[in-house]
Amino acid sequence: MKLLIDDAHIDDIKFIYEYFPVTGVTTNPTILSKIGGNPFDTLRRIREFIGEDAELHVQAVSKTAEDIVREAHHIVKILGANTYVKIPAVREGFKAMKILVDTSEILITATAIYTPMQAFIAGQCGASYAAPYVNRIDNMGFDGIRVAQEIQKIFIANCMEIEVIAASFKNSQQVLELCKSGVGAATVAPNIFNALIANSAIDDAVDNFIADFESFAGVNKSMLDFS
Ligand code: G3P
Repeated sequence: MKLLIDDAHIDDIKFIYEYFPVTGVTTNPTILSKIGGNPFDTLRRIREFIGEDAELHVQAVSKTAEDIVREAHHIVKILGANTYVKIPAVREGFKAMKILVDTSEILITATAIYTPMQAFIAGQCGASYAAPYVNRIDNMGFDGIRVAQEIQKIFIANCMEIEVIAASFKNSQQVLELCKSGVGAATVAPNIFNALIANSAIDDAVDNFIADFESFAGVNKSMLDFS
């Protein structure tokens, strides 16, 4: 399961990149609204930092298929080939996906997925990823993990190349559950990244090892001080 950062704050992205294995960055209009200004200034900054080979997911917001197609070309022209255009998995979005797949090399992430059938249709349209919103589905009284797992099973059962990129997480346990299921990717906000490994028992264990070493070698000594 690949891990991506679901955020647009460049300092947070840099921090997570320094400490975690990351495949790329996902954004959506709400995430970009937290930065404000020209969205391409924000997105260019991210692209420059993560490099041209990393995945950058950017959502189209037009309402008709034809406009979504134009927007997709515009986004990829500015941000480069490894930019996945996020297209909502609704009727106009499916039409746009079909046009883009038939007429271009543009990569598509089907987004705003709440039901397995949306994901199946997106896969048939040629999308590369389908993004079920785990926590939002939970908040509707359903089981977001289960929906993501069902989507994964549908893709495998139908020999489809599309992958799940699970989104909308509230806690690290949700990420773990999908990791166990082997979904293709999860996109996670910076605070959840940190929660993936937050555990005081682990910190205590490491601190105790250091204290034991320093008890015979001296404070701030390491193996570098011996040969
Ligand atoms: O980008 C889509 C998804 O990650 C949204 O998450 O936290 O707004 O439900 P959230």
